[in-house]
Amino acid sequence: MRVVVGGGTGFIGTALTRLLRSRGHQVTHVSRREGEDRISWAELSRSGLPLCDAVVNLAGENVLNPFRRWGDAFCQEIISSRVETTRSLAKAIAAAEQPPRAWVLVTGVGYYRPSPTAEYTEDSPGGDFDFFSRLVSSWEAAALIPGSPTRGVVVRSGVVLGRGGGVISQLLLPFRLGLGGPVGSGLQPFPWIHIQDLCGIVCHALEKESVRGVLNGVSPSSPGTSSGGFARALGAALGRPALLPLPAWAVRAVLGPQRAGMLLEGQRVLPQRTLDTGYQFIFPELPAALRDIVA
Ligand SMILES: NC(=O)c1ccc[n+]([C@@H]2O[C@H](COP(=O)([O-])OP(=O)(O)OC[C@H]3O[C@@H](n4cnc5c(N)ncnc54)[C@H](OP(=O)(O)O)[C@@H]3O)[C@@H](O)[C@H]2O)c1
Repeated sequence: MRVVVGGGTGFIGTALTRLLRSRGHQVTHVSRREGEDRISWAELSRSGLPLCDAVVNLAGENVLNPFRRWGDAFCQEIISSRVETTRSLAKAIAAAEQPPRAWVLVTGVGYYRPSPTAEYTEDSPGGDFDFFSRLVSSWEAAALIPGSPTRGVVVRSGVVLGRGGGVISQLLLPFRLGLGGPVGSGLQPFPWIHIQDLCGIVCHALEKESVRGVLNGVSPSSPGTSSGGFARALGAALGRPALLPLPAWAVRAVLGPQRAGMLLEGQRVLPQRTLDTGYQFIFPELPAALRDIVA
């Protein structure tokens, strides 16, 4: 299969590219940077989609970048790096003489309203209560191609755990130094997925012709994981104590109240349709997922 991946040079994209190539697929990235096997977003708009069988979009400015102050310019970048890139790929698919068979977009579980008790499946309502939920709604809306023969799949991902990026890369040093611990109360749900499973779900969506619509990208045990439980499990995987709490006020001071909510609140999300479509998780349980990552 020839696969075009927007934002495929990042944390998830690098792992996905490795997995796709190991399965014999060819990968071309759409990127802001020049390089081998890459085209630019301008080239995509100018010349259209290269001949391919499938398209994935992973492009997006890093929301939790602690070096970026929360403000209008950053919000606009968060939105446009997701919605505009998705719209560009959807337009290119719609205009392609030979349309690809599959089109997969990775968004987030921020679609569902944080709650300590509610459990959400792919059919649950959401998408219209705060900045992030509305972002996911417009991001997913930008992917729609009415009347297209191309099969569309959206993977709503939880916190992606893996080596060399994402939240683990920010936590590893303090936890190794014994300075880790629960964030805020530690009671908030922590929807997580191992990076191999997120990439596995994207591959499953690309390869299995019957899969379409929304799939939740979270581990099946994640509805039972709290943020404090995650901190204890990471400490245990590293053989370090994880007792020092990171107070809510400090998270708000560093990230601003909107982004702090992503760490101080969470959703219990079930991968109901993901399992129903036949995806088998490699890392359904947190301790084994973390041992694999920090080993
Ligand atoms: N990591 C997680 O825990 C997580 C959880 C849920 C959802 N997601 C979503 O999954 C996608 C990929 O996540 P990731 O962790 O792999 O992200 P990442 O490593 O931060 O970056 C993904 C790629 O997006 C492109 N990009 C960054 N800023 C951009 C901008 N302003 N305009 C256009 N492209 C830009 C970059 O590609 P080039 O430099 O090649 O242009 C980058 O390599 C994102 O949309 C993210 O929101 C991630």
